[in-house]
Amino acid sequence: MSVINLQLKGILLAGGAGSRLAPLTHATSKQLLPVFDKPMIYYPLATLMLAGIREVLIISTPHDLPAYQRLFGDGQQLGLTLQYASQPRPEGLAQAFLLGRSFVGTSHCALALGDNLFDGLSLRGQLLKAADRSTGATVFGYPVADPRQFGVVEFDETGRAFSIEEKPVNPRSRYAVPGLYFYDNQVLEIAARLKPSPRGELEITDVNRAYLERDQLHVEGLGQDITWLDAGTPERLLQASQFVCERERLRGKKIACLEEIAYRQAFIGAEQLECVARSYTNNYGQYLLNLLNDSSLPSNQLQSFEDLPKVRANFAA
Ligand code: TTP
Repeated sequence: MSVINLQLKGILLAGGAGSRLAPLTHATSKQLLPVFDKPMIYYPLATLMLAGIREVLIISTPHDLPAYQRLFGDGQQLGLTLQYASQPRPEGLAQAFLLGRSFVGTSHCALALGDNLFDGLSLRGQLLKAADRSTGATVFGYPVADPRQFGVVEFDETGRAFSIEEKPVNPRSRYAVPGLYFYDNQVLEIAARLKPSPRGELEITDVNRAYLERDQLHVEGLGQDITWLDAGTPERLLQASQFVCERERLRGKKIACLEEIAYRQAFIGAEQLECVARSYTNNYGQYLLNLLNDSSLPSNQLQSFEDLPKVRANFAA
């Protein structure tokens, strides 16, 4: 396994028009809207962090970017290095790789959509597997009742993809492709050659199709314990809040608590966690303080990371 080229960076797309959520999105960026107790963007950022990613480029509109900068700053409080880029017009998901070209450099890159939420016990394992792949692209397959409104992928039990289509009228499988994609560095060259689709966007499905044509598109079927939610419509935004509220109540544990993830993954230490925790005067801060008294943390988490050269490389970077 190659370690040299395995540095993995993340791009988080938090722009877009948000037209399906208007008027909620008239004065606020979609990804700043609450999903229960956190801004929506916390969830995809948590997903990237769970994949071991510490360098993230957040892309949003010129108008909304300063709000994300106020929210996260340089990311140091989470043990992250955050950069920001502006997307003047929502010209497609794959534009992320044109805007993020110098950020990605020679690294591999994961792209997360700012309105997608994942949760489940086997999630981290699946993310690390995708993050560890040395060549090609990895997308995920998630069975849905009506695949016609999504990118749809057809694949076999080894994860080899046969077809990938954007919003097909006659879907060839019931597997939608959620908004989380892992690419090797070929993505920069593939994205640079894309032409806008009839709807005027640089399509992520065209990037994935280019990998498919190279026989380098891997599909991970998401485990049955994993929930995927796209909070881009009023109904699904409400469902996402209800889901997080209910899960957190049942488990007594937060979903996408960024400081907790940073601590568990040893991106930050106890002192830093305590400092952030004390900046809150509410239950969120108390939750963080309680983590400090949990003797099982964070050393148990580190052991599993020791096996992963890739993640070690990320730590070292
Ligand atoms: P979408 O939900 O496909 O688009 P949207 O956010 O513009 O919403 P609507 O369709 O209701 O108008 O976008 C998925 C995610 O990607 C979302 O978090 C916004 C983000 N995005 C960008 O940052 N830039 C883009 O050019 C596009 C198309 C989306």
